[in-house]
Order: sequence, then structure tokens, then C-alpha cells
Amino acid sequence: TTVDLTEEDYQLGGFANYMHKEIHEQPEAVRRAVLGRLDERFSTAHLGGLHLDARELRSIHSVKVLGCGSAYYAGEIGANLIEEWARIPADAEPASEFRYRNPVIDPDALYIAVSQSGETKDTLAAVQELKRKGGRVIGLVNAPGSAIARECGNGVFLHAGPEVPVASTKAVTNMAVCFAMLGLLLGRVRDLSVSRGSGIVSALDALPQRIGEVIAVEDRIARVAERFSRAARMFFVGRVWYWPAAREGAQKLKEISYIHAEAYQAAELKHGPLALIDGGMPSVVLVADDELLAKNISTLEQIKARGGPVIAVTSVDLPEGLADEVIRLPRTHPELDPIVFTIALQLFAYHLALGLGKEIDKPRNLAKSVTVE
Ligand code: G6P
Repeated sequence: TTVDLTEEDYQLGGFANYMHKEIHEQPEAVRRAVLGRLDERFSTAHLGGLHLDARELRSIHSVKVLGCGSAYYAGEIGANLIEEWARIPADAEPASEFRYRNPVIDPDALYIAVSQSGETKDTLAAVQELKRKGGRVIGLVNAPGSAIARECGNGVFLHAGPEVPVASTKAVTNMAVCFAMLGLLLGRVRDLSVSRGSGIVSALDALPQRIGEVIAVEDRIARVAERFSRAARMFFVGRVWYWPAAREGAQKLKEISYIHAEAYQAAELKHGPLALIDGGMPSVVLVADDELLAKNISTLEQIKARGGPVIAVTSVDLPEGLADEVIRLPRTHPELDPIVFTIALQLFAYHLALGLGKEIDKPRNLAKSVTVE
């Protein structure tokens, strides 16, 4: 499938800046990512650019995802999906750490380099190191013809369209979606059942609509952001599936609002960070409709008991009074819900930064693509 881009892709239209425009483009970007790739008949995905047949796909014993910044966090979402659906060990690591720690290269592993620009120096160097040592590496890249896409040869294009502002939004979402399709494919050549596979296919197919529903609550998210705009720091709390979403949420806030934000896994709070909780430390807590709900509710209570303001971002109807503000999100699929949470946190960071009058598309000290060390 090829995607034709028009002049319009580079124009602001009615938006005040590119970040806002691209947040709103996400339903369309996801539609492009799944176009022609979902197979309802066999409940799987077609990813022609991988050039791996079923036997080769089955010979993969583990997965290691490499990327930088938001691409690394998207890689963590991806590793979770692959491990859950294909039942093969998978994790993500910053490409820079990987290239400098003299890693053991496993010939039975699949290495995945993930990058919006395809030009990030550390990610490219990790790919070159892998190739030199005979590792099997594919790219999950947005920019066709980029250095990482060329170096990898095989892979999955994100089809997010051009991403202009420093802060990555639609590319991160499409990374997660492409990982989901890869996890589905790897799962379906193994033991992932037809019915689970078909649930994933339908959820991916319906994802653009669900993302539209998140964007529809933008006004509410903006009001919550406004209420907390005087905060000097914030915690983002999420566990397991929601941990990468919390990290990416904190990253977005740091990048464009310059508010100090840190992500923690809920259970780790009591091992140190709880000491920082007071009236001046709001926590954004991600509460999913899953088996950890009761534990997440007790996290909300722990924070409130110490006087910390709580913003709950959630896909469940929480009991009254647990949180100071609630951002209610639609459900998509148990393992894909972190994607819509990530989008809600993009809007949260965006409106905070906008209210503070920050330069949204070009934050200080940062570059869109880091092609030097
Ligand atoms: C820079 C950008 C980030 C981006 C990272 C990786 O640091 O500011 O927004 O996530 O590079 O970029 P890539 O193009 O490799 O995805």
C-alpha cells in the first residue's frame, strides 16, 4: 500500500499550531496505518515489508525493541503487546544504552528499530552494530527513504504522514498500532486463538472512532489542565500496561510545558516517591478497567490521604470523591486501551503548555530529530 501525501498535509488549516493539528489527525493516521493490513478472514495482519514467512516468524524466540525518546516509550507498549499475544519474551531499551553496553546478540531474536524520522543517530548506530554482529533487525519507521529504513531494509512503515512539531503524537500512536499488528501476526502463527485474534482485528478497525471520542472530550481535558496550570511538578502513575503511557505522558508535559513530571509505577510510590506528595504535587493516575482496579483505587486513596491532588484518567466509572478531577475515556480493547490514554495525555500536556503561553511546536533546547550524539 502506498500513501499519497498532498500539500494539505503540510498546512496548518484552522489549527493554531502543528501539534494540535496532528493530535486531531490521529483517527486518520491510524486508518492509514491499518489500511490493507488487517485480515478478517484469518484474524491476522499482513505486513508485506517484513519479508518473513511463517516459518521464519515462528523461529523468533525473543524480541528487543530499540528507540529513543517517545519512540522508546512506544516500543515499551509494543513489547508488552508482543509478549502478551505471541508469548515470546519482549522488551524495549533505549537505543543509546544498547549500543554502548556491548550487548549479546541473539541470532534467534528479532530486533526492532523504531523511529519517526528514521534519522536518529543512536538508533541508526544500534542498527549498524546489530547488522555487523549478524542480528536480525527490522525497522518500524515513519519516513520512507530515511537512513534507518534503508539500513534495515525490511520493516513496517508507520504511514503517520509528516510530523512537524518536536513533540511526537501521531507517530507514537501509529508506532503502537504497528506493534499491535506485528504482535497479532506473531501471535497468530503461534497459539493466539482465532477468537482473540478477531477481537484484536475488530478493535484496531474501530480504533480511529474511539480516538475520535477521546478528542471529543478535549474541552473537558483542557479545563482540568487549566485548573492545574500553576503546578510546578507532577507525578504520572500507571502500572503494567499503563506504565509506558504514564512515561510518555510525563515526557509530553516536560517537553512542551517545562513542568517537572515524573512517571512511577503505582506500587513503587510507597518505596520513596510518596515522601514528595503534598498539596503542591498533583498526580495523574491512570486507572484501567482491569484486574488491578482495586489496587489502583487504593493508590488514589493513598495519595489523597497525604493531601496530594489527584487527576484520574480512567476507563471506568469511579466511586465519587476518589479524585479531584476525572477524565473519562472510552474502552477499546483490554490491551489497546493504553493507546487512547496516551492520546488523552497528549491533550492534557498540550492544553497546559498552551495556557502557560509556551512555544508549542518548538520547545526550547530540543530538536525534532537528533542526528548527532
Ligand atoms: C527527539 C525528539 C523526540 C523523539 C526522539 C526520537 O528527541 O525530540 O520527540 O521521540 O527524538 O525520534 P525518532 O525520529 O527516532 O522517533
